[in-house]
Amino acid sequence: MTSILELKDISLDYPDGLDDQGQPRTVRALDRVSLTLKAGDFKALTGSSGSGKSSLLSVAAGLIQPSSGQRLIQGQDTSSYSEAQLARLRREKIGLIFQQPNLIPSLTALEQLEVMARISGLGGAQLKEARSRAADLLDLVGLKDQASVSGSILPGP
Ligand SMILES: Nc1ncnc2c1ncn2[C@@H]1O[C@H](COP(=O)(O)OP(=O)(O)OP(=O)(O)O)[C@@H](O)[C@H]1O
Ligand SMILES: [Mg+2]
Repeated sequence: MTSILELKDISLDYPDGLDDQGQPRTVRALDRVSLTLKAGDFKALTGSSGSGKSSLLSVAAGLIQPSSGQRLIQGQDTSSYSEAQLARLRREKIGLIFQQPNLIPSLTALEQLEVMARISGLGGAQLKEARSRAADLLDLVGLKDQASVSGSILPGP
């Protein structure tokens, strides 16, 4: 079976100011990391502060490109995707929940869950289906009563 995600020898360098000679310096956040995830896998990533967890997840999720190495998503090499291709990849294939909530204050709880369907241009029956699924998901996590509550006053995690 094709892996959902495969990282091969991923390295990531961030710019880190200038050295004594005025040359750009870099800091290596990831050093040849490899990882394979199959459908249904559940993995946790642990490590001390600054060890590169957020950097690895950012590369894995297509938020940033690695400095070297390959990222395959469902077998497709996405390591040299353009920004537009990456944006489409994230919209269609990747779900990410950040440490800080990224709710849109002007939308209700239900509307937050419809955002991706709307951005993807779904309409008619498909949008209706997305809305019904959003309502089911709120129900599943015990937030059915909060469906019309604004993102600005929804309780945090
Ligand atoms: N945008 C950035 N620019 C420069 N250096 C960065 C940047 N982001 C992270 N770093 C550096 O990269 C290394 C890895 O950082 P990262 O944030 O991935 O670690 P982390 O494991 O998520 O840490 P924490 O547990 O504190 O969240 C650290 O040395 C950090 O200082
Ligand atoms: Mg982090």
